[in-house]
Amino acid sequence: MITSSASLDYVRELVYQRAGIVLGVDKNYLIEARLATLARELKLASVEEVVTAARGEQARKLNPRIVEALTTNETTFFRDVHPFNALRDHVIPGLLAARSATEPLRIWSAACSTGQEPYSIAMLLKTHFPSLPSGRVKILGTDVAESILARAREARYRQLEINRGLPAALMVKFFERDGTDWTLESGIRSMVEFNQFNLVTPSTPFPQADIVFLRNVLIYFDEATRGGVLRRVRAALAPDGYLFLGCAETTASVPDMFERVHIGSTVCHRPRNPA
Ligand SMILES: C[S@@+](CC[C@H](N)C(=O)[O-])C[C@H]1O[C@@H](n2cnc3c(N)ncnc32)[C@H](O)[C@@H]1O
Repeated sequence: MITSSASLDYVRELVYQRAGIVLGVDKNYLIEARLATLARELKLASVEEVVTAARGEQARKLNPRIVEALTTNETTFFRDVHPFNALRDHVIPGLLAARSATEPLRIWSAACSTGQEPYSIAMLLKTHFPSLPSGRVKILGTDVAESILARAREARYRQLEINRGLPAALMVKFFERDGTDWTLESGIRSMVEFNQFNLVTPSTPFPQADIVFLRNVLIYFDEATRGGVLRRVRAALAPDGYLFLGCAETTASVPDMFERVHIGSTVCHRPRNPA
């Protein structure tokens, strides 16, 4: 059955209102493909039936499922590697030196998907700062999608996911084989707290942080949403803190708020004129 344009528009508006994600008409194929999978899971005959059910009595149950189905959760361990090198060589040593021993360093992975990003940071800390007492650095991973966070908490990865970005030495050191999958050891898992957090919900305060990884999520938002999110990140970021964006992302929507700083082979953003 062909999905009606009214149903496609309903999905577009729902996903924009709930997650800020823009799905133009050029993304109709994506809506069709992702919701066809959801239809099969729900044992419904078509995308049209999913939308009809979501617009009726099953709204509370189905609308969040539709939104989650239309998030893109692509990620890898140590994605783009250079930001992690900057953390190791410059950012973490500098911030640790600037903080007292009782002041934990707060790192927020703000669209953490299935957990590879915050777990990469945890493995980096364990490997390169082995004498740090537990609690000296707090890592928070958040994402809008609950089902994706459930996978992050489980920390169980397929061979293909392990092959993407994880150095063999870290695989051997921190993962245990579990059938055809690999499970991350509990010591690293316990270093990361995961919470559901929607970057575009206006009323929720952003968590205070010294380092924010906000990578490969702003690309799904429009200019106004990007500006709103970046303003709130700026307010939550320590005056001497660091913001890392994805390679294709900038702070152009809030030109006066951050300055671009080169560290090694990467670029990050620091609060401009902190109060
Ligand atoms: C492409 S992944 C990026 C993962 C990781 N940061 C990286 O760079 O590898 C984008 C993530 O953003 C999440 N996301 C999309 N809209 C969001 C929102 N409004 N609030 C929080 N997370 C959101 C998605 O669920 C998805 O897991």
